[in-house]
Amino acid sequence: MGFKALCFGLFCVLFASHIYVPIPGNIEEYWKVMALDAAAKTCTFMALCFEYIGIMRYEEFISMIFKLDYTQPLSDEYVVVTDTAFTDIPVRLYLPKRKSETPRRAVIYLHGGAYCFGSCKQTAFDFLNRWTANKLDAVVVGVDYRLAPQHLFPAQFEDSIAAVKFFLQDKILTKYGVDPTRICISGDSSGGTLTAAVTQEVQNDLEIKHKIKIQALLYPHLQIIDSYLPSHRENEHGIVLTRDIAIKLVSLYLSKDETLPQAMKRNQHMPLESRHLFKFVNWTTLLPKKYRKDHIYTEPVLGRTNYSLQALMDIRASPLLAKDSQLQNLPSTYILTCQYDTVRDDGLMYVSRLQNVGVQVVHEHIEDGFHGALSYMRSPLYLHLGLRIRDMYISWLDKNL
Ligand SMILES: *[C@@H]1O[C@H](CO)[C@@H](O)[C@H](O)[C@H]1NC(C)=O
Ligand SMILES: *[C@@H]1O[C@H](CO)[C@@H](O)[C@H](O)[C@H]1NC(C)=O
Repeated sequence: MGFKALCFGLFCVLFASHIYVPIPGNIEEYWKVMALDAAAKTCTFMALCFEYIGIMRYEEFISMIFKLDYTQPLSDEYVVVTDTAFTDIPVRLYLPKRKSETPRRAVIYLHGGAYCFGSCKQTAFDFLNRWTANKLDAVVVGVDYRLAPQHLFPAQFEDSIAAVKFFLQDKILTKYGVDPTRICISGDSSGGTLTAAVTQEVQNDLEIKHKIKIQALLYPHLQIIDSYLPSHRENEHGIVLTRDIAIKLVSLYLSKDETLPQAMKRNQHMPLESRHLFKFVNWTTLLPKKYRKDHIYTEPVLGRTNYSLQALMDIRASPLLAKDSQLQNLPSTYILTCQYDTVRDDGLMYVSRLQNVGVQVVHEHIEDGFHGALSYMRSPLYLHLGLRIRDMYISWLDKNL
């Protein structure tokens, strides 16, 4: 009780001091977003204070807040919702109640949360997946992969691919009445990273019989080797997600080494032998002029630190590092990017790379969008932007799956 009261008191004081931080003028529902941003930054600040004085780790505090928002598997008039497991990976399954003459379409959804937080049980994702099942008359699977920092990379990828492979078996597709030629994988933010990596793996693995028909990446994070892209610079103090916090969370995902975030902030975290990879994220060639603006390209400083972290060069952590020959086999892809997003340029560069090898891409850019907006579709954090993104994504899915 004492701790809760302390948290609440501290929150109020800090919230008041954060509320006047300006946000871009074209943001819809300006005051609501400003309050949301202040609340998020207050929680971050509190979490960092608690970590500093040794009460609990930053990520433990944030994770506590996320967990307040988990829902039970509640079936409704249209959809049967159950929590089950694929092999030993927890999943939430949405099966439409309507009778269907033909096998159904299916969507596997990998939630965001910076690899450290969240669940398909969060109100917003439960709502989105239920909505997808109902609107598309599709079978939907939300996957609860293990989270960092308890489980470092590549646990998140391994769980996601294991769940997907399990689902793609003939006997499982038959059990749920799914058409093997109409399967989509989707994900937002870090779930977008996992979606891109899992889709690359499924399409290129000759042993997997059924392939993915389409993939949807919603404001995805797609690389960790260059931490000084134009979008990182422009959104250093971004709405809800700042560059420093993004770096802190990615570091927690990759390694227990506490010097990694400092090196990433200076863009000096990559080893000498990674030089050949930078052509895959060279924004001077991969970003359209509109986003390059008058930013000056600075060569990354390599070999300044001695990380022998394989993860930094792994395409499962940075799907943008895949070679053209690996990208060629990718299915039709939807990429949604937001202007006010530190990872915006990852998505934009993936659009270019996929288009360069002839993969069909639909790209939608939201000029007044910001990172994580899909998480704000339900009260008390209801934003019109979240619903707009949902509707754009669902409408593409419906036409293409
Ligand atoms: C990135 O591209 C520019 C040309 O647009 C080139 O000068 C630079 O050397 C490239 N850097 C890397 C690391 O590939
Ligand atoms: C990296 O390793 C080399 C050789 O082992 C050593 O000389 C150098 O001081 C190390 N650099 C850092 C930043 O630790």
